[in-house]
Amino acid sequence: MRHDEQVRLIKQLCAHLDAGTNEDAGGFLRLPTAVYTDPVRSEREWNEFFMATPQCIGLSGDLPEPGSFLTNNDLGIPILATRDQDGSFKAFVNSCSHRGVIVETEERGTTRRFSCPFHAWTYDTGGALVGLPKSEHFGDVDKSCLGLRRLSAEERHGLLFVHPNPEATVDLDQLLGEWFNDEFPTWNFGELVPLTRQEYDTACNWKLAMDTFGETYHFSVLHKETLFNAFHGNVQCYDETDHLHRMILCKRDIDAMRLLPEDQWDITVAGLPVYWIFPNVILLPIDAGCFLVRAYPDRNDPGHHVSRMSFYLKPGLAAMGDEITDFVTDLAQKFGNIIREEDYVMAASQQTAVNSGAVKHVIFGRNEPTLHHYHQTYSKLLGEELLPLLDAAEVTAGR
Ligand code: FES
Ligand SMILES: [Fe+2]
Repeated sequence: MRHDEQVRLIKQLCAHLDAGTNEDAGGFLRLPTAVYTDPVRSEREWNEFFMATPQCIGLSGDLPEPGSFLTNNDLGIPILATRDQDGSFKAFVNSCSHRGVIVETEERGTTRRFSCPFHAWTYDTGGALVGLPKSEHFGDVDKSCLGLRRLSAEERHGLLFVHPNPEATVDLDQLLGEWFNDEFPTWNFGELVPLTRQEYDTACNWKLAMDTFGETYHFSVLHKETLFNAFHGNVQCYDETDHLHRMILCKRDIDAMRLLPEDQWDITVAGLPVYWIFPNVILLPIDAGCFLVRAYPDRNDPGHHVSRMSFYLKPGLAAMGDEITDFVTDLAQKFGNIIREEDYVMAASQQTAVNSGAVKHVIFGRNEPTLHHYHQTYSKLLGEELLPLLDAAEVTAGR
């Protein structure tokens, strides 16, 4: 993030702290809880948000060298992503051109060849079919036409994007907009080194999981023994454009930092930036690196999802040896545990209640603008009527 923008945001946080204010959405939203339970809505979300949108599957560091690969099964289509021999990022349907078997079953690794476990057809890291055993018996086929099926893929700003629809093309100008395309290069995400990966299988809709990242109103209560020690609760900066938004949470370290000259101000000391990449990805850059959170729906159950939370370390710290990496690993895991043991417990609790059918709406307050924007964006993209911004009387009417 450019330094002048960091200073602007830090001043805004200070102004909120001094005045005892927070960002103000200007009214309330009443969200129908069907968005968390309705299988029809869920299927539309899957088709529109996941199948029709490029998906961030990781950071460049997940494919560190030629021959690196990773597999992904979160999107209903088996994906094999590779770093080809020329260093380029590629993605394929992870299915053999012979009779469809999943070719690579390991989660990640490094190789020059992928060999199908059924009859040993073999592919290179560019997806070309390079080996077909007993071809004189199988029949004379043109191997050049039988490579792995390509998926549109693009690496930009150190992020790896794949389109899960083989017929579609990744469009990151649209997905990231001018704003994120301008701001992301300043974070050097491409240099970061993967350090930890955690997976949370939770009985809540994927959006309930995302919602927990969308406000700090809850910090002084839910996180009073944990994050509230490091953050001022109920204070944030918030900006949005189209389907993009960014929050800056407020750290307690801002109290000492604001006394320093402005040229020494650092947004990762004063706060925690939270970028939302539509539809299901949250990026949280910190001074030591970056968290990447991805929430995936369960197509068969709107009340269930899997979150993947990864932490990537700055290369300078990674080079400092075990003591530092152990320390940051512990930090990253503790943060992940807070999400799982505090936030996602609330999300599962919400899901239990809304599943009962007795709770028809939830309320988003004036101090929860991110949640307004999350859900209005989803509604808009599904062609639904936008929720009206309500005043205090309207939001309680009819209860
Ligand atoms: S299915 Fe892969 S080699 Fe036969
Ligand atoms: Fe939280």
